[in-house]
Amino acid sequence: MSEPGRLEAGLRRTAPPGPLPTESEPALLDQIRAEIAASGPLTFARFMTIALYDPDHGYYRSATERPGRAGDFLTAPETHPIFGAALARQLDEAWRRLDRPDRFVLREYGAGSGTLAASILAGLRTDGSGLVDTLVYEPIELNAHRRSQIEARLGPLPETSTGAAASPFAGAVLANEFLDALPVHRVEQHDGRLWERFVDWDAAPGNLLERRSEPSTAALAARLARDGVELAEGQVAEICLGLEPWLDEVAADLERGLVLVIDYGQRAPALYDPVRIGGTLRAYAGQRAHADPFIAVGRQDLTAHVDLTALEAAARALGLNALGDVSQAAFLVGCGLEELVEVVRSNPSTTLEEWLALRSSIARLLDPAALGGFRVVLLGRGLGGSPLRGLAGRVPGR
Ligand SMILES: C[S@@+](CC[C@H](N)C(=O)[O-])C[C@H]1O[C@@H](n2cnc3c(N)ncnc32)[C@H](O)[C@@H]1O
Repeated sequence: MSEPGRLEAGLRRTAPPGPLPTESEPALLDQIRAEIAASGPLTFARFMTIALYDPDHGYYRSATERPGRAGDFLTAPETHPIFGAALARQLDEAWRRLDRPDRFVLREYGAGSGTLAASILAGLRTDGSGLVDTLVYEPIELNAHRRSQIEARLGPLPETSTGAAASPFAGAVLANEFLDALPVHRVEQHDGRLWERFVDWDAAPGNLLERRSEPSTAALAARLARDGVELAEGQVAEICLGLEPWLDEVAADLERGLVLVIDYGQRAPALYDPVRIGGTLRAYAGQRAHADPFIAVGRQDLTAHVDLTALEAAARALGLNALGDVSQAAFLVGCGLEELVEVVRSNPSTTLEEWLALRSSIARLLDPAALGGFRVVLLGRGLGGSPLRGLAGRVPGR
């Protein structure tokens, strides 16, 4: 494990970094120690579940605002409303391809405080899209504080926002920076075979550490085999077994329409290339990215890149078409980003401050070393043959 505080380039890092917290939530450490004492070292996925999702103290349950300039990281929707305005154009195209259903559900996983939905709705209104009158927004957000914020912003929430089942719908499913937070197992190739890395407690210095042992489930080796991946000696990698169950739920509910996944991610050959010898697990706190999950337990975000090969294979198995994937930068250009910028630039009421804020946000959204390097994956059902506009974009100069 890398030493605490070793910093790496963070895709989501923005302003000058704040102080890196190191103190963990005491109740979470107690729970982790108790589970280890009762039944032995935990899988990393179990550790991540406690650190992020514990009902009382997990990172994602807290009232503290996480994404945003004052939070731990800045996501694309929080960067500028133009991101949502561009997505609105892709949704409008999907709605038209479905013959403009008079009820178009927009289900958003990990909706946060509703920033993306608010900017999508604003974009649809500005464009005069008829979709705005048929759109039913269903945020799926486990944080009760965020759900209240969405409600305050957009009105009462449908029952699905707390996880209840919805009947099949025509519409779109959106997941921006959601899949990267699903718990992952950590594996390691050692002495020519696959091991799993478990989380253990070392009483002497009093800290968490990882230990190699037999994999907890054959599904880990099976996933790598299905991906056609053999790890190099010494290579560590993350595997998210929650991917398929999530897509199962999506495919069961989406009768016709589009799935848009936006996240850090690569196809398996790149994701599991030995160039990523230590894996892609990252922790985020105070606008800093680092590689130590065992500090600030419950007070920092934990993420791992999404396996796009596994995502698309699962989609095909569930009868969804894998329509393609592009960089976020290309996707935004395909959705008409340049035209949206021009509308703001040529509007006489745009202030200098607004114009400068937009320009610096565009730089972040398009920069391949920042948010522009995210992947946008489009899956769908019943959307017709020709490529959707988001897949047809080209970034100037690339
Ligand atoms: C990194 S934030 C992204 C928020 C928003 N999509 C954005 O881009 O600004 C992840 C969000 O997903 C929520 N979340 C994480 N896991 C979840 C789950 N299993 N079900 C529902 N929401 C979840 C968190 O509470 C958090 O609001």
